[in-house]
Parts: sequence; C-alpha cells; structure tokens
Amino acid sequence: MSDKTYPPSDAFAADALIDAAKYEEMYAASITDPDAFWGEQGKRVDWIKPYSTVKDVNFDLGNVAINWYADGTLNVAANCIDRHLAERGDQTAIIWEPDDPKDDAQHITYQELHAQTCRMANVLKGLGVTKGDRVVLYMPMIPEAAYAMLACARIGAIHSIVFAGFSPDALGARINGSNAKVLITADEAPRGGRKTALKSNADAALLHCDDRVQCLVVKRTGGQTTWTERDHDCTALMAAASTDCAPEEMNAEDPLFILYTSGSTGQPKGVVHSSGGYLVYASMTHELVFDYKPGDVFWCTADVGWVTGHSYIIYGPLANGATTLMFEGVPTYPDASRFWQVCEKHKVNQFYTAPTAIRALMGQGNEFVEKSDLSDLKVLGTVGEPINPEAWNWYNDVVGKGTRPIVDTWWQTETGGHMMTPLPGATAAKPGSCTKPFFGVHPVILEPTTGEEITDTVAEGVLCIKDSWPGQMRTVYGDHERFEKTYFSDYKGYYFTGDGCRRDADGYYWITGRVDDVINVSGHRMGTAEVESALVAHAQVAEAAVVGYPHNVKGQGIYAYVTLMNGVEPSEELRKELEKWVRTEIGPIAKPDLIQWAPGLPKTRSGKIMRRILRKIAEDDFGALGDTSTLAEPAVVDDLIENRMNKG
Ligand code: WTA
Repeated sequence: MSDKTYPPSDAFAADALIDAAKYEEMYAASITDPDAFWGEQGKRVDWIKPYSTVKDVNFDLGNVAINWYADGTLNVAANCIDRHLAERGDQTAIIWEPDDPKDDAQHITYQELHAQTCRMANVLKGLGVTKGDRVVLYMPMIPEAAYAMLACARIGAIHSIVFAGFSPDALGARINGSNAKVLITADEAPRGGRKTALKSNADAALLHCDDRVQCLVVKRTGGQTTWTERDHDCTALMAAASTDCAPEEMNAEDPLFILYTSGSTGQPKGVVHSSGGYLVYASMTHELVFDYKPGDVFWCTADVGWVTGHSYIIYGPLANGATTLMFEGVPTYPDASRFWQVCEKHKVNQFYTAPTAIRALMGQGNEFVEKSDLSDLKVLGTVGEPINPEAWNWYNDVVGKGTRPIVDTWWQTETGGHMMTPLPGATAAKPGSCTKPFFGVHPVILEPTTGEEITDTVAEGVLCIKDSWPGQMRTVYGDHERFEKTYFSDYKGYYFTGDGCRRDADGYYWITGRVDDVINVSGHRMGTAEVESALVAHAQVAEAAVVGYPHNVKGQGIYAYVTLMNGVEPSEELRKELEKWVRTEIGPIAKPDLIQWAPGLPKTRSGKIMRRILRKIAEDDFGALGDTSTLAEPAVVDDLIENRMNKG
C-alpha cells in the first residue's frame, strides 16, 4: 500500500471547522475525560428535560449495559425539524432527485417536511400505533420514506427499514422478528429505468405474518392493482390528515430504530439504536467529518435501507439543519454520468459514496465525469469497504481534480456513525487508510489469539474499541445475550468489531477486511483486500475478489475471481501476466494460485461482494452456499460454479 500522504490545502484547513491542532487537542480531551467531552457535545441536541448524567457503561460479559444521557428526554423528529423552523423554515431540507432525470426534482422545505411528517404521524396514530410499537418500512427512495422515519420518531414508534431490494421472505422474517404493527410500502419502486413491484412483494411477505399487521401503501407510480383488507391508501390518508402532531417526549435510551444486519453466523441481527446518544453522534460526525457548513448541499448516495442512509441522509444532516439530497436512481442510469450530472444540477458540496460505485464508474472511462461541472464539490467521502489506492486515486484525480479532501470513513451498522476517518481540514490522507479515530473513539489492536493489546505503534491484529461512544448499538433486538456473545465475549472488556486492522508508524489505521476474510498463506497473514487491490490496479481488470481455499502445502491458497474490463478477452497469457503482476505489486507470497474469470461477482444489493459464497465455491463446497436470497443477481453464482477452477 502506498504511504504517500495528501494533506488538506492550507486554504481548506484555514476555513475548516477542525484543523490539525484542534483535532489533537479535542481528541486528547475526549479520551481523557469522556464525561466532560460528551457532556458538552450533548448540547448540540435540544432536550426537553436536560440530562444530569452523561456516560454509564459496562462492557463486562454478562452485564453489558450501555447508557448515555440516560435521564434526559427529547424528541428526535423535533430536533430534526421543529427546532429549525424559526430560522430556516423556508430552506430546502430535502432535495429529491427521481430515477428518471426527465422527471422533476422536488425541493422540500423544513416547513413542508414538518407538515408531511405530522400528516404521516397522524396516519400512523389512526392505525393505532403508539409509543414503543414497531413499524417496518419497505420503501423506494422517495420523500415519504423520510416522512415515515421521522413520523415514527415523532410518536415514539420504532422503525425498522428493510431495503427494498430484499425478497418477500426476508421482509416477512423481519416483520415477524420485530413483531411489527404496521408495514409501510409503496406500489412500485422505479430504479435504473425498471420497476420493482414492492406492493406485491409486501403481499407475499405478509402471507407469513399475523393478520393484524396493517399495510400502508404510498402511491409512487400508480401501478398498484390489488388491494387486500389490511391495506390502506397512505397517500389519500395523508392528504386528509392534520399537519399538526405534538412530538412525544422520549427518554434518551428509548430505541429510535432497529436495523437488521448480517453477521458471520446465523440469521441477521436486529441492531438497536438509541434516541439521544445516536442523534448526538450522527449530528456531530456529519458536521465535522464532512466539514458541513450552513447552506451546503450534502449528498450521500446510500439507500435509507442501510445504516449509512439512516445516519447520513436523514438523522445527521437534518439534525444539523442541512440540505440533504435523496436520490432514487442508480449511478449508471441513463448512463455512467448520472452521479456527476446530479452533482452539477443540484450544486452538491459534499459527496459521499461507496468504493464499489467508484470502481464501477472508473471502469466506464473519464469522459462521463469530465462532461459535468463539479466545481461546487468541496469534500468527497467513501464508506463500506476498504478503498483500493487505484480507485482512491481516480476519485481524487478525476472527480476531485486533486483539490478536494477525501474522507475514507470506517464504521459499521453497530457503531451508528463514523469511527475512524480523516477530518477534511485536519488529516493528511493516505489512499486506502481510514487514518485516525474520531473524537471519543479509542481503537485498540489486539493479538488475535491471546487477546493482548498491542501497544507498539506499528501493530497488526483484530480491531476492538476500548470504551463506549454515544452512537454505539445498545442491544440485539429481543436477544441481549446474542449481543453480548457477538461483540463482548471473544475479547473481554472490549467491543469487538470483527475487522482486522494494521497501524502504521504514523499511527494511521488500515482496515484489512473482516477477520473471517484474512487468509494465511504459508504462514503469512494476508488481507484478501490487498491482493484484490493489486489485481484491480491492472489496466485490464475491472473487479476482483480473493478468498482462501485449503491448500495441502501452504495451508491456504489464494483463489482469485477476476472480472475483466469490457471488451477484454480472457487468455492464458493474461492469466500469467496477472500472476506476475501481483507478485511484483505485493510479493511472491501474494501470487494467486488460481484465477477464475468471473463475468460477474455475487453481490448484495448494496454492492458488497459476498465472499462467503466465493469461499464455498473455492472450497468445492457447493452444498453449503447458504442463503443467496440477498444477492443482486443470483445467476452469477451458477456461472461461477460451472466454471470453477479445477484444483487437481
Ligand atoms: C467494512 C457500513 C474499510 C468493515 C457503514 C466493517 C470498511 C463493515 C469501511 C461494516 C472503510 C466499512 N474501510 N472497511 N471505510 N467502512 N467497512 O455494517 O469491514 O454495512 O466492519 O456498515 O464494512 O459494514 P456495515
């Protein structure tokens, strides 16, 4: 990995909310006296009853309890809407950009957001939803998704969003898992010029659920045809509902939402986030990590079905009175210039996306970027997986024109907000490194087998967090024991992230991937991400995924699935060339033992490569592929199985 650093320009640093000196000073304070630090930061939220205690946390197995601002009360929706009305009621809160660029965008002011959220809240109340009830959302990326989240928060209901790409079975399991009273969906979800029949998926899901679950259907395309007894026309009910709804007084520790996420074993877990601590953390990270200033237009390209959408489309930006962009479409529709066209059209200042999108767009060529005016961009961000230096450099050079700081934000569904990331005016970036911890975050690297903390600056091992931060998940919904077992039992007294990590001589952190993705080849520990990064640095490679497989000499061998650039034909020469390429990029130990040409890789609908499946194929263990229902294109798996490499 390259150790070249990219410091912020003097001009950027001079204007930034946090510069290098301020980071050091505030970070030290946050670790030395967390109570004082977070006591002060808690004031960025409006409390109905102020808190008198700040942090009350126990990480000991058997007694894990996480409480922040525990005796304070607030309402999250009031913080995201009402408190802004006096000063910026007419400012745009949400810019909505539809799937089809020929359709009109919407600019929803804070005043309108207030009215619509109250209408939706009253509709929910009309269905008998009260404080503490669960409401599942299965929605397109439309403003009603935001209204629904905030409406739940307003009346104290707990939302659980299921990404609209999930199957009916997955949706049904989550409705049952959270024992939800109401499902909110829409007729159809347009995406990339195609429509997903959300309502008929919802119908299929609800076949497995209690008859008392009611369904609110938002009109998006008008394509809805069948109505059942449990259905209600949400659009009509909202039109008739009052625009007034008093916010419920909630305790800081009352759950704000549940979000299901997959672990390395078993069924997905319902990650529970709090109201007070979560909001403080989402708001603070949004402001400081993106250097967000009043009037800026912020765009996070995630879907609200993922934690990134919760924290950085809705709660963080709206708590800060920001203008946040919500995009219904995909990066490649109508063509690969869409992201950049949207940036130009809405004068986006901060742009936050995933490395997988960057790599996909990089493969399409620079002309798609160059035809758009990106002069309003100030900060670029990435999230979700380690970014390979090749993609980082393209993002930096072609999108950022070499002048916009890039924040590579490492965090998890469980953490609620950014944990390690550059601050754009403070941190010299290194491509591929998430650099330094955010305020109040105390990362430690442990020796994986002994669990000993490695105190030398240069270290490699498993990444744990030593102490709590306000955005931390509080429990697994309905299964606190699983929460303790998953995160606090392997390494006693720490929160275990499940990620491997390296710390360099400058104290910078480099995520090496999930620890279950670490492979050990001839006694050498290696991150599969490193090999992938080397492969994709080759001009003819579009994407690569690397897993370990049992090798009778080396212990584990390296199995690489390689997707070539459009128009490049696989050949034995190219295979040899790639082997040599990786040898020279990383070293002989990293040379792939097997390279399989993969027309496509199995990905979740959020774009994450499902290495579990690739590992099974590499191991010849087809019977145990597990749940493939969350794949974007299940057919790619069949192709990979059919063309798996004969390992002899
Ligand atoms: C990975 C997404 C490297 C990591 C917010 C983590 C990253 C998992 C980064 C959480 C990053 C996320 N660099 N790896 N900047 N961001 N990851 O729950 O393995 O969908 O544990 O949360 O993604 O994924 P999740």
